Amino acid sequence: MKRSGYCNDIREDRIGQRVTLCGWVNRRRDHGGVIFIDLRDRSGIVQVLFSPERHPKAHQQARELRSEFVLRLSGEVARRPQETENAKLPTGMIEIIVDHLEVLNPSHPLPFQLDEEGVGESNRLQYRFLDLRRPDMQKNLQFRHRVTQSVRRVLDEAGFLEIETPMLTRSTPEGARDYLVPSRVNPGQFYALPQSPQLFKQLLMIGGMDRYFQVARCFRDEDLRADRQPEFTQVDLEMSFVEAEDVMGMAEQVIGRIFQEALGQNMPLPIPRLTYGEAMARYGLDAPDLRNPLELTDITALMRQTELKVFAQAANRTGNRGERGLVKVLRVPGGAQLSRKQIDEYTEFVAIYGAKGLAWVKINGPWQEEGWQSPIVKFFSPAEKEAMVAATGAQTGDILFFGADQASIVNESLGRLRVKLGKDLQLLNDTPFSFVWVTEFPLLDWDNEARRHVAVHHPFTAPMWEDLAKLEQSGGDAEVHLDEVRSQAYDLVLNGTEVGGGSIRIHDPRLQQKMLALLGIEIEEAEEKFGFLLKALEFGAPPHGGLAFGLDRLVAILLGVDSIRDVIAFPKTQRAGCLLTQAPSSVDPLQLRELYLRSTHQPRV
Ligand code: AMO
Ligand code: AMP
Repeated sequence: MKRSGYCNDIREDRIGQRVTLCGWVNRRRDHGGVIFIDLRDRSGIVQVLFSPERHPKAHQQARELRSEFVLRLSGEVARRPQETENAKLPTGMIEIIVDHLEVLNPSHPLPFQLDEEGVGESNRLQYRFLDLRRPDMQKNLQFRHRVTQSVRRVLDEAGFLEIETPMLTRSTPEGARDYLVPSRVNPGQFYALPQSPQLFKQLLMIGGMDRYFQVARCFRDEDLRADRQPEFTQVDLEMSFVEAEDVMGMAEQVIGRIFQEALGQNMPLPIPRLTYGEAMARYGLDAPDLRNPLELTDITALMRQTELKVFAQAANRTGNRGERGLVKVLRVPGGAQLSRKQIDEYTEFVAIYGAKGLAWVKINGPWQEEGWQSPIVKFFSPAEKEAMVAATGAQTGDILFFGADQASIVNESLGRLRVKLGKDLQLLNDTPFSFVWVTEFPLLDWDNEARRHVAVHHPFTAPMWEDLAKLEQSGGDAEVHLDEVRSQAYDLVLNGTEVGGGSIRIHDPRLQQKMLALLGIEIEEAEEKFGFLLKALEFGAPPHGGLAFGLDRLVAILLGVDSIRDVIAFPKTQRAGCLLTQAPSSVDPLQLRELYLRSTHQPRV
């Protein structure tokens, strides 16, 4: 018999009709006489009833049913007797009086109940096929599907072509380690799985495709966290003959459409913008959550002559962007209430990010009336105190936290402290989704260990044309200038998480060569690694740019779940393993021999 629809479709308009449904036994209640079953499929639940008087055969069969048996059943839709309706269930006004039951498959007792709270994640991942039956996972994956479909629709309408790019390829430089795949037919040689389709999408623009997108799987062998998986999905796009504005505008249309179609909401457009410089100055991090009202204040200039040595030293320290000294203040309204123990905990917290201490001042009243409580207040002159009040807007009841060190440490430690205080003290405003573009990222970073520059975004990102002259003058004394060259890169941040990033690319082969040279990549190495791109740039490459959304992160935040694992059907653990399939695993020595491989790993016995 053909299925009439999904469980959740059966409503009062079907009363009196006979329907056939398929699904799982969510719960069984045997009242001695009548047996009730909550039948579940991906749409939801409907109550079905087995009556010993009306349909004795079906009732007899129903006595054998257990949780998660798979059924096909037919019966008449009836109004539930008064007082037995369930207003919480969309199908709660009706029930189905079963006259015909077929057990399609029985089930073992489950390792955990589907409605059980707090089931350990390793259990959930090992039995993911059961975990996926839970309403939350059903909802999450159905929502993810709607997001992906919205993206496809809006990009198709805007003239984008969906094109697949290779998975077995060469290394793509996004800054993580590669996953390698040995080649059997080319002994000793390896493919790399793509960290992103970056180089191919640029080649597609050179190939005249004009507008490309792909829902692309990317692979990065990096340390994992709640918002990072070794394989993840990007909504990747690239456009020809555009400027940064055009790409950002297109990305806003995509987000707007997702809001409309998947969330049923209007998204406030346009998305506000911050330059990288401003984001770092005010929030210490390049992915600020603007729902958090706390801000940092730079008081470096006020601290150059101060008697407090650590502060004066930091204030007078010179160097490049990360190494120059900074003294900054994080003002926390109402923070004078914090206990000594809490302050000590925050001091330990900032130490994780390299801070050597966390000086503080509690503002219990005006400093002129000895209202400042702090171990360091004695070092500040009246003029310094006055200037601090003016700069931070400090008021009675506040606490000021100070960071004094090289810029990278001060920004990161106070930036993270800002995020933590925002959470701990519940300071975030109640905007559910707060987007911001961060623009004008620096082009280069100085890697102190490797003693060379690295690309902040990737080596194909164009500098801001206004800053091109600085790039051209580089070398010798001009290193400091190099540090200040800004790029045409932009990140999209949602609730303090980077959910997308992109840039205008270099389309001039000479500029691309220069960029690789600045990154300390020798000509031979450049030829060997990206010769194909450098060559393609010589054959009439159009100006182009693009962006990639992190689909997993975007969907997770829109759903309000803590981990991207909850929006991926078969995610991996923190140790990059799949508990369901037990991947990765050792392989047959024969298979290794065919691939010309031998493991040097000594298994512990
Ligand atoms: P990027 O490296 O910034 O840019 O990646 C784009 C977006 O992908 C998401 N993301 C991740 N999500 C889950 N797990 C990970 N390990 C992970 N790594 C990144 C982030 C990020 O914003 N080719 C460029 C894009 C471009 O320039 O067009 C790129 O890959 O949300
Ligand atoms: P000390 O003189 O080392 O006892 O430090 C006095 C206060 O300054 C303490 O509250 C320290 O936590 C704090 N402190 C020390 N070094 C730094 C630093 N680099 N930045 C901010 N605060 C610091």
